[in-house]
Amino acid sequence: MRSNTRPIPCRADTQASYDRLSRWYDALAQSSEGPLRQLGLQMLALRDGERVVEIGCGTGDALGRLAQSVGDTGGACGIDLSPGMLGVAQRRVAAMGLALRAGLLRADAIHPPLAAGAFDAAFVSFTLELFAASEIPVVLAACRRLLRPGGRVAVVAMSSRGKGNLMTRAYGWAQQKWPQWVDCRPIRTAETLQEAGLVLRQEMLTSTWGLPVEVVLDVNP
Ligand SMILES: C[S@@+](CC[C@H](N)C(=O)[O-])C[C@H]1O[C@@H](n2cnc3c(N)ncnc32)[C@H](O)[C@@H]1O
Repeated sequence: MRSNTRPIPCRADTQASYDRLSRWYDALAQSSEGPLRQLGLQMLALRDGERVVEIGCGTGDALGRLAQSVGDTGGACGIDLSPGMLGVAQRRVAAMGLALRAGLLRADAIHPPLAAGAFDAAFVSFTLELFAASEIPVVLAACRRLLRPGGRVAVVAMSSRGKGNLMTRAYGWAQQKWPQWVDCRPIRTAETLQEAGLVLRQEMLTSTWGLPVEVVLDVNP
């Protein structure tokens, strides 16, 4: 699959796209992305009392489960650029009775305004590959800053590993035509995390609709 070379929408355009998409996001993406997010959550294996941050929490499908996994004594914090997506996430965690355990923050993943070393774990699904190749190391450095030494990060991302196929070519075509809507730029996830100084613990290459997806667990040394 071709990798991360296509034009990147500016932040205002990204926010506006996700604001517009927020009402429909779950209906459009849950069946293809939900099972892969679940694999990432299983790899992260949160424990009671842990503090976890989700970068690009979207509509909060993972955030609700992260908050459930850390129990009464833990906490989850979801950050996202889009107020529309955050609004859906807020309603979801409130409906689950988890509003006090799951905080939400509008912020750019490039510089989240949260304390260094404040988290035991981080979760990132279908978000890292939205960034320009030059920004990904900055996002991962910001993620590392939030994690304590020994903290874990699970990333689920569309992957550029493997041979191209009909679906990857169709995806590339759709991305050229509608960059605002088809916005993932597949990456070599495990390698990218290692280049950012994270230490690989577990990796899986799977797919959705014929499109390769990596699910990776790393540790902040
Ligand atoms: C493809 S969605 C995935 C959402 C969620 N992680 C999931 O798996 O359903 C990408 C999310 O990243 C958010 N996002 C995009 N650019 C961002 C940035 N610079 N900082 C924080 N969030 C961002 C979008 O608003 C959107 O909610």
